Amino acid sequence: MDRIIIEGSRPLKGEVTISGAKNAALPILVAGLLTDETCTFTNMPALRDIESTKALLTHLGSKIEAQGDRIQIQSASLNNPEAPYDLVRKMRASVLVLGPLVARLKKARVSLPGGCAIGERPINLHLKGLAQLGAEIELSHGYVEAAAPNGLKGADIYLDMATVTGTENLMMAAVLADGETVIRNAAREPEVVALADVLNGMGAKIQDAGTSAIRIQGVSSLHGTQCAIIPDRIEAGTFMVAAALTGGDVTLLNCDPTHLSASINKLRLTGATVIAKDRTLRVTGGDRIESIDLKTQPYPGFPTDMQAQFMVLMTVAKGLSVISETIFENRFMHVSELKRMGADIKISGNAALIKGVSGLSGAPVMASDLRASASLVLAGLVASGTTEVNRVYHLDRGYEALEKKFAGVGAAIKRISE
Ligand code: EPU
Repeated sequence: MDRIIIEGSRPLKGEVTISGAKNAALPILVAGLLTDETCTFTNMPALRDIESTKALLTHLGSKIEAQGDRIQIQSASLNNPEAPYDLVRKMRASVLVLGPLVARLKKARVSLPGGCAIGERPINLHLKGLAQLGAEIELSHGYVEAAAPNGLKGADIYLDMATVTGTENLMMAAVLADGETVIRNAAREPEVVALADVLNGMGAKIQDAGTSAIRIQGVSSLHGTQCAIIPDRIEAGTFMVAAALTGGDVTLLNCDPTHLSASINKLRLTGATVIAKDRTLRVTGGDRIESIDLKTQPYPGFPTDMQAQFMVLMTVAKGLSVISETIFENRFMHVSELKRMGADIKISGNAALIKGVSGLSGAPVMASDLRASASLVLAGLVASGTTEVNRVYHLDRGYEALEKKFAGVGAAIKRISE
């Protein structure tokens, strides 16, 4: 297994180009199941999760061609309604094929994803919504079996929680349903809006994506489309924190500052200077890092996917900070590893109390999930001495060429492949 070795305590300086957003690219690629015409997507990030999605879609009968950051999908011969356990367990987002399969093939058999490192992560709201659209749903032998022999019918759906992939799954099911669907308490994340834009480009009739009540007028078929994936706001946020953490001066290219308001505001309160201009963001670290409190919330609130990275910043801030995680019940796995690097953190329920220390010290650490892994790399960048991050495959799921990008802004970081 690969490892990442970091020699810390160097301010990062220079420019870094942000890749396409993983969490936009995954549902958008899956949306290619909804038409038999060709869809072409550019600015696709080179990630393990994208490879897993390509394998799953190929298994379902789609034809996929990839070249550089461009992926073409053509699903004229979509014929297999089954997403098997082996493919789904590698990536929870595989459950996104459920809605499109029922919409196109009138049936689907998709493995239940099961829990993961950050929490139980049920899909009950995806299933309840699909049932409201007229699918018969059964759980059997670890699989969701959904059937809608007479097609799906529009419905008024209320989500108990504003689930991101749940909203996306139901939106993709509803675009080909008969009549109008309203998804209430819908997720408002930019990735939901990006998916709606692509679906509308394919001929769907979706209104008000980005608000909590999305309206979808079903159409009888969709056509091919072409579009570029939006920039990854979490990758951008991770580099912003890295610049502030190391007292550096980094300019992010090809990002969308409008998607990063919560992170930008919070970072400014820590003492960093953040200048947003069109598609760029320049972050300069201040003389010292001030403590702030944070609470994760659905968009436009502070993203859970940035919680671990901001926690690293707080470990070396001046004073006390409280970080509350309200989205996932078990997203503090980075804490024990950060403590091994000298951080002073106490967990109480869903809150972490962080007392800033004068510095972290490098250590061998173990990554547990994607964003926790990113936080350990950040910790290594500011720590004295050498940090060795193990289980790097988590990082490869969602960060394109992370160590190369960090090396490009002056970090002493390398990957050891085994
Ligand atoms: N929930 C339910 N029932 C459901 C669905 C969700 O109770 O049927 C709960 C979850 O347990 C959680 C909350 O609702 O407490 C919100 O979860 P959500 O469904 O929004 O999460 P997700 O769609 O599974 C996406 C991202 C995650 C990101 C979350 C929250 C993708 C592929 N994944 O997950 O990204 O953390 O939204 O913003 O879009 C990551 O990139 O590292 C990552 C984990």
